[in-house]
Order: sequence, then structure tokens, then C-alpha cells
Amino acid sequence: MTYARILGTGSFLPEHVVTNADLASQVNTSDEWIVSRTGIRERRIARAGETTCDLAERAARQALDAAGCVASDIDLVIVATTTPDRVFPGTACLLQERLGIHGPAAFDVQAVCTGFVYALAIAEKFIRTGSTKRALVVGAETMSRIVDWNDRSTCVLFGDGAGAVVLGAGDAPGILSSHLHADGAYKELLTVAATEPLQGAATGHITMRGNEVFRMAVTTLDALVGETLAANDLRQTDIRWLVPHQANIRIIAATAKRLGMAMDQVIVTVDRHGNTSAASIPLAFDVGVRDGRIQRGDVVLMEAFGGGLTWGSVLLRY
Ligand code: UT7
Repeated sequence: MTYARILGTGSFLPEHVVTNADLASQVNTSDEWIVSRTGIRERRIARAGETTCDLAERAARQALDAAGCVASDIDLVIVATTTPDRVFPGTACLLQERLGIHGPAAFDVQAVCTGFVYALAIAEKFIRTGSTKRALVVGAETMSRIVDWNDRSTCVLFGDGAGAVVLGAGDAPGILSSHLHADGAYKELLTVAATEPLQGAATGHITMRGNEVFRMAVTTLDALVGETLAANDLRQTDIRWLVPHQANIRIIAATAKRLGMAMDQVIVTVDRHGNTSAASIPLAFDVGVRDGRIQRGDVVLMEAFGGGLTWGSVLLRY
């Protein structure tokens, strides 16, 4: 039996830090409101001309180094992003060219904040069938490009960044299970309507019915965590680390409570990164690996919820 295992991780954040105080000088908000409602204190914003692929490349190179791989070892490239450099080709193709990988399949996954979980689950299935030996799986975003900087209800939430893993074939698991869901009936809750030339929509910016998304996220993630534990015949105490999508500390805390986990078993980056959509889980995972909290053999639960609506989890042994 062939399993998929994470061989190495990497991440990258743009240099420019934007604090809550910076935003309070532009829109009618305050550090107190943002911290108490979301847990966010600052976020990174890409400089002019710095693209999603630029961030993805830095994270990918670090993950390749950590995995002890060179570009020619990679036989699948998947980039999860909702802010691609171009309508086409996909950012995965642009990244592939930057890294000097020629020939193997490369494609983007668009599942917004759940994108990395989707991408990891897809890569795992390629590896399990034997068609892929080493996959580069990236979550990368420049959310700052689709944020309406005059809308205080959304502009305080998002940030830019990238995270990456190299997934390799092995004899032992690895990824234990993945659980992917979507329901397009809720498409209007969190969306970027297409830009005018495409569909005549009024805006190319994020709109969100935040309170409804919040309530759905908490109940849906509660059920998802139960589904993941049941599928693996695990108890809450079998999970060492929770690596959640980083949208709101209150949503993260609710999921940790459902799992009976203390917050020191949760990798939290939302305070420094904000919500980086598809990049948030691989960024947080890399932070936990590099600072030594996540150790080889630890059981880790990744879970995400976002536009679509989409939601999903990956349970793995690192
Ligand atoms: O990553 C994909 C998934 N996304 C999420 O999971 C996000 C889920 N939603 C949330 O995290 C929260 O709903 C928010 C953080 C977006 C908002 O928090 P909330 O506690 O749900 O606040 P609210 O939307 O109910 O707004 C409460 C008040 C409103 O004022 P009134 O109508 O009560 O007078 C808003 O206008 O807060 C006001 N408000 C703000 N005030 C200061 C909204 N944004 C701001 C702001 N600063 N930035």
C-alpha cells in the first residue's frame, strides 16, 4: 500500500506589516474592535507588483529545501489560490516555470479558504494511485488585491502570504483521511462577483455577510470535526495539534473547545497574519514545524471553511 506523507514545509510573508492602528487611520475602526471581534493585530500586504506567484515561489523553494528535493523530483504541482496572477495560465504553471519543472501536471485549485485542504486531498489521491511520487502543494494569496479598502467590515480581516508542502509517497501514513464538502446554495454569503467585462457585475471586491458566515462556520466545523474523528475511530485526545484556517480567533477557539483541546495545542497565526485564505493553513503548519512544536509522528488536524461555501479537513500523522 502506498501512502502520502509530508516531507517538508515552507512559507513566505511579504515584508510590509499593516497594523490595526494603520487601518484605523484609513477607515472608521479601532484596534480594540478588530482584536476583540477577530483576534487580528496585524497582517502582511504585498508590495506593488508583488504577485501571488512571487509569494508561492519563495514558499515552494523553502519546502523543497526542507524536503531535501530538487525541482526535477516533483511530478505534480498544485496551487490553491483565489487570487491568481492571471485568468490563465494557472498560477501552478507560472510557478512550475519559475522553479524549472517541465512536463508534469500543474493546475490551480479554487476553493477559496478551503483551497489548501482541497489541494492536499487531491495530491494525496494522486500519490495513493501510484501516478505521482512527489507533489508540490502550495496555498498562496494576495487577498489585498480583492479587498475593498474603504469597507471596514472586510478590509481589516485579510492578509497576503504563501505556504507550501512537498508530499511524497511512502510505506506508512501520512495522510490518514480527508473530508471535502461544498454547498453553492450559499454562494452569496461570501463572494467576489466577477469583474465587469466577464459578467456585468458591479464589483471585483470581497463582499461578506460576516455574521451569517460566522454562525455557519462554527456549526459546520463542529460537524466536520465529528465526521473526521468518527472516520478514523479516534478520540479527541488522540489529536496532538489543531492547525485551523485562520479567519477568526473566536471560530478557532470554538473548534478547539469541541475537540477538548487547550489553546496551546492550536497553532494560531491569525493575530500576525490575518486571514490569508488558502495560504493560512500551510503558513500556520510551517510556523508550527519550524518553531519545533509539531514533531514527527504527531497527529495533526487541519480544517477550513470559506467561500462557496466550502469546508474540509485533513487528518495526518506528520
Ligand atoms: O475565511 C472565510 C470565512 N470567513 C469567516 O469565517 C469570517 C466570519 N465572520 C466573522 O469573523 C465576523 O462575523 C466578523 C469579524 C466579520 C464580524 O464580527 P461580528 O461580531 O459578526 O460583527 P457584525 O458583523 O455583527 O457587526 C457588528 C457591528 C456592526 O455595527 P452595528 O450595526 O451593530 O452598529 C458593524 O457595522 O460592528 C460594526 N463593524 C465594525 N466596527 C468597527 C463592522 N466592522 C467593523 C470594524 N470596526 N472594522
